[in-house]
Amino acid sequence: MPELPFTPDVAAATEALRQKVSHVIPDIEWAVHAPTIAAINALKREKNAVILAHNYMTPEIFHCVADFVGDSLQLARLAAKTEAKLIVQAGVHFMAETSKVLSPDKTVLIPDPEAGCSLASSITAADVVALKAKHPGLPVVTYVNTSAAVKAESDVCCTSSNARAVVEDIAREWGVDTVIMIPDEFLAQNVAKQTAVKIITWKGHCEVHERFTAADIRDFRSANPGVVVMAHPECPPEVVAESDFAGSTSGMIDFVAAKHPNKVVLVTECSMSDNVAVEFPETEFVRPCNLCPHMKRITLPKILNALETMTVEVTVDPAIAARARKSVERMLAVPVTKARFAA
Ligand code: 13P
Ligand code: SF4
Repeated sequence: MPELPFTPDVAAATEALRQKVSHVIPDIEWAVHAPTIAAINALKREKNAVILAHNYMTPEIFHCVADFVGDSLQLARLAAKTEAKLIVQAGVHFMAETSKVLSPDKTVLIPDPEAGCSLASSITAADVVALKAKHPGLPVVTYVNTSAAVKAESDVCCTSSNARAVVEDIAREWGVDTVIMIPDEFLAQNVAKQTAVKIITWKGHCEVHERFTAADIRDFRSANPGVVVMAHPECPPEVVAESDFAGSTSGMIDFVAAKHPNKVVLVTECSMSDNVAVEFPETEFVRPCNLCPHMKRITLPKILNALETMTVEVTVDPAIAARARKSVERMLAVPVTKARFAA
């Protein structure tokens, strides 16, 4: 794709955005991004599209072209209620599928269909059927980081920000003391520490969060005395135990907004710190982080291409979508109580 020119008109049209992100995007890089940002924003208006962006998108996407941003739960809620007929999902494939499941009449585009997730690829619908046969009478709580086919075999979905509430709600409804919670073993173990409900889990892991260790956290602290450590609950339980706070990506943002810590380390994907730093420049972010190769497949040029070519459209078999929708909607009906997985 030929590079678009950084003309004076583009510079003027994008100046307010440049100022907003100047803390994390140097001017030399801005000259590359600005023409694509201007083109995306013009085309988006022309086509009445909305861009839903996950908190792990790079700052030029998150702050400059997204209409709505959030964690997985917030994006699912936004997809369910947006009036727009065209959704561009700046996130990974399971997020786009969730949008399509909740909005079957809308067109959902993903800028790169190869943007997967190690958790989503760790389990199939046949695996869920086998688990149910092995543990009859137990409800299946499925993390949204899964395919629509896996959600279709489940009783309810959850995200990292409502996992404990969902587990307790479904256990109460079914009158059981044990649930099956798939596919993230570490999220399940972190939830199990917070609830009396017993949990049978699966061996799926997030390839980004499984790499953090308790020793990493101790090293951050000794190199940065007084630093506040926040971890995503997809991290191993010993990492969460060493942290000051654990929660979803939006839970971390809420924590920074509420407490204004001087120095923090977000034990999660790299773009989070950049995105939060734009809004809280007075907080210092220590930057050891891991990149999600799937999230990083989504780029400005691919978003522009998606809007120009109306590809790649996400489709879900209507029969599977109808069953998956029940699991997602059952989740959305659970009152939101912010999950905290403190040490
Ligand atoms: P959140 O729901 O916390 O945004 O997490 C999604 C995800 O993929 C984290 O790795
Ligand atoms: Fe999946 Fe982990 Fe990437 Fe999130 S960060 S999309 S859980 S691989």
